[in-house]
Amino acid sequence: MSTERIRTGIKGLDDDWGGFPEGRTMILTGDAGSGKTIFGLQFANGSCAQGYRTAYVTTEEGVEDLKLQAQSFDWKIEKWVSEGLLTFIDVLDKRIQDINAALEIQVSVQKGNFDSLLEPIPKGTQVIIIDSLGSHTAQLTPREFKDRFDVLVHKIREKHLTALIIIDSVTSETHNDLALFSAYGALNLIKRENAYTGQRERVIDIIKMRNTKVPLQPLVYEIDRQGIVIVTQEQ
Ligand SMILES: Nc1ncnc2c1ncn2[C@@H]1O[C@H](COP(=O)(O)OP(=O)(O)O)[C@@H](O)[C@H]1O
Ligand SMILES: [Mg+2]
Repeated sequence: MSTERIRTGIKGLDDDWGGFPEGRTMILTGDAGSGKTIFGLQFANGSCAQGYRTAYVTTEEGVEDLKLQAQSFDWKIEKWVSEGLLTFIDVLDKRIQDINAALEIQVSVQKGNFDSLLEPIPKGTQVIIIDSLGSHTAQLTPREFKDRFDVLVHKIREKHLTALIIIDSVTSETHNDLALFSAYGALNLIKRENAYTGQRERVIDIIKMRNTKVPLQPLVYEIDRQGIVIVTQEQ
């Protein structure tokens, strides 16, 4: 059984395995500043370009900052928003119209009911990016985290959503291995020193991708006007 793929908009990744599987959950981890949010925005841009109704749920950065970040690339974020294809949702925004609803989501995410993150997304949403699952989960035991994460993944499937869940590095250090089991695939963004050139570089490590042959070596990428661009395939 094969699933339809939604292209990420990252050339090189899409060339390799066609994109993210429809109706499944992918995980993206990485250090601060490694490019997780840019990846998320680029995927949002890509999925909208393919006509998918997309929701970008942010728990940390404000929507204005995200839009500004997106504007630094040659994407069409504003067009998608004005066409109603793309919705940004700041679940922790105190200025949200329904303050009670925002607080409820905040409280229940802190208690670990991650699926409440899906509540504010518009009807008909097909693709969701959650940026990020993290800081609110610090007090959960690994078992609690895994149970809640599994419920979220289950709800995502029930709703036929294609999801990219960004997990911050602190959370992934403590809980990532647990989350990995339930996700269809997982990517990790790393900043590292190239042993030969001594230069810092960014790489994507494809940790897991069910039913798909993926490169074992990390893919080196750069961030330019197009966003994330894979530059080499290391041998
Ligand atoms: N327009 C741009 N062109 C090139 N690099 C950029 C651009 N915008 C941001 N960056 C780089 O991306 C980094 C931030 O990426 P971000 O996705 O916010 O990281 P994360 O979400 O993993 O913390 C910045 O540190 C900056 O170096
Ligand atoms: Mg970020």
